[in-house]
Amino acid sequence: MAPLISTRGLGKTYATPVLDGVDLDLLPGEIHALVGENGAGKSTLSRIIAGLTTPDRGSMSFEGRPYAPRSKAEGEAAGIHMVMQELNLIGTLSVAENIFLDHLPNRAGWIDFKKLQRDATEILTRIGMGDLDPRLPVEQLGVGQQQMVEIATSLWRHCRVLILDEPTAALTAPEVAHLFDQVRRLRSEGVAILYISHRLEEIRQIADRISVLRDGHLVTTREVAGFSLDEVVRLMVGRELGSADFTSGRSRGPVALAARNLRLGDKVQDISFEAHRGEILGFAGLMGSGRTETMRAIFGADTLESGQVFLHGNKTPARIRSPRDAVRQGIALLTEDRKAQGLFLALGIRENLTISDLRRVAATTGWLPRALETTQIRRWIDKLHIRCNSPDQGITELSGGNQQKVIVARWLFRDCDILIFDEPTRGVDIGARFEIYRLLADLAAEGKAVVVVSSDLNELLMLCDRIAVMSAGRLAAEFQRGAWTQDAIMAAALSGHLGTPAVN
Ligand SMILES: Nc1ncnc2c1ncn2[C@@H]1O[C@H](COP(=O)(O)OP(=O)(O)OP(=O)(O)O)[C@@H](O)[C@H]1O
Ligand SMILES: [Mg+2]
Repeated sequence: MAPLISTRGLGKTYATPVLDGVDLDLLPGEIHALVGENGAGKSTLSRIIAGLTTPDRGSMSFEGRPYAPRSKAEGEAAGIHMVMQELNLIGTLSVAENIFLDHLPNRAGWIDFKKLQRDATEILTRIGMGDLDPRLPVEQLGVGQQQMVEIATSLWRHCRVLILDEPTAALTAPEVAHLFDQVRRLRSEGVAILYISHRLEEIRQIADRISVLRDGHLVTTREVAGFSLDEVVRLMVGRELGSADFTSGRSRGPVALAARNLRLGDKVQDISFEAHRGEILGFAGLMGSGRTETMRAIFGADTLESGQVFLHGNKTPARIRSPRDAVRQGIALLTEDRKAQGLFLALGIRENLTISDLRRVAATTGWLPRALETTQIRRWIDKLHIRCNSPDQGITELSGGNQQKVIVARWLFRDCDILIFDEPTRGVDIGARFEIYRLLADLAAEGKAVVVVSSDLNELLMLCDRIAVMSAGRLAAEFQRGAWTQDAIMAAALSGHLGTPAVN
């Protein structure tokens, strides 16, 4: 079959080469997975195909004719659309306005809001989000919902080639299923889909062919059937991953954090739980189940309506009125939304890493000798395989997954007794994911209390000693390791939405 898009000898160099000699063919009616470690060049390749970045070397063709887009608009004119890895919505505009941003329907110069909302609802219904009010400003949505809206903005257009750069990073199983339905529909219409994901299981479900990028080189393109995941990982990472045991070597200590009857709107309804030292406590649940809101409230980022938090075994409740109070009392929170809350985009890796710790650094030495600081930063860069040119490289120049690693490292850099991680491995490749699991396991083994919120159930099953399940703002169930099954956890996660009590 003649390819829709072909790249030949494609190359791109920033400070160093990031793509080199890439030959890729996208066939009509195929879902073509693109995998590789963080920084391998997946987004760069996608951006070149979509016209957002120009290559330094090589050429492309579209249906056999030379294709060299100089802008996103030129790519779109050819029917090539891309859903970017980073969210690109405008927070103050409504869901409907974001979906139709470039193509707002108008009636004699006026926007026809009724029609806009009707059209938006139709598209949202297709991806299973028919209940979402299209008039809401997107900044009021959670990251997962924002991601669905972002996907919706591409789905309604007529396209020949659709590039999805980690579309499911913030989605849970039901949302992924809706997305896959739509992607399969497009495939049956002859669209070529380039699908980037770090969730390899997903790729086995949805993709027809797979290409592996390593260090900017396309290592192989094959049929997915008959290609084992182990082999994919080996080609991606180029080394063995080590054991996947993240639960041994720790024992449960005293309670470090006790939440009692926390309440905040309909997202946090009477939540009580305890996190122990020497333990990893997981929080499972669907997108929007209230996990993030609960953690933010504990951290003082939002104000609780009622309820108390007890720390370190104290009999009197802690006073946490701001994140600063929380950090002072030994609580760290890694937020799920790195772009809005996590990173200081104007700064380099150095500042982004050390910013949580400036006080401690200053208190112990008056000032931290830059050379010592650099040594410590390099240690984390090595440990998490953060791909960068130097500790002072601007954070926006890093690939998405490497930005996430910088935020994780920031909190590891700081010595807190209670560490809450909200989606710590979103967008992180499998090699680095294992490094992060290992670090979390080490922290628990050192006697810290570790709380992990994750939409990736496999991650929680691998890592946690206990899993609490939230559903529709309530704590639906709690399971000890050994006493859980995937089905029981899923049933509990859905229970609040179905109006039936969860069986524990
Ligand atoms: N504007 C830029 N300036 C300098 N370097 C850049 C720039 N954009 C990307 N890079 C570098 O190019 C390399 C490839 O980045 P890219 O975003 O394509 O990786 P990726 O495979 O998408 O990774 P991830 O899985 O983390 O999203 C990275 O090392 C990144 O730091
Ligand atoms: Mg990327």
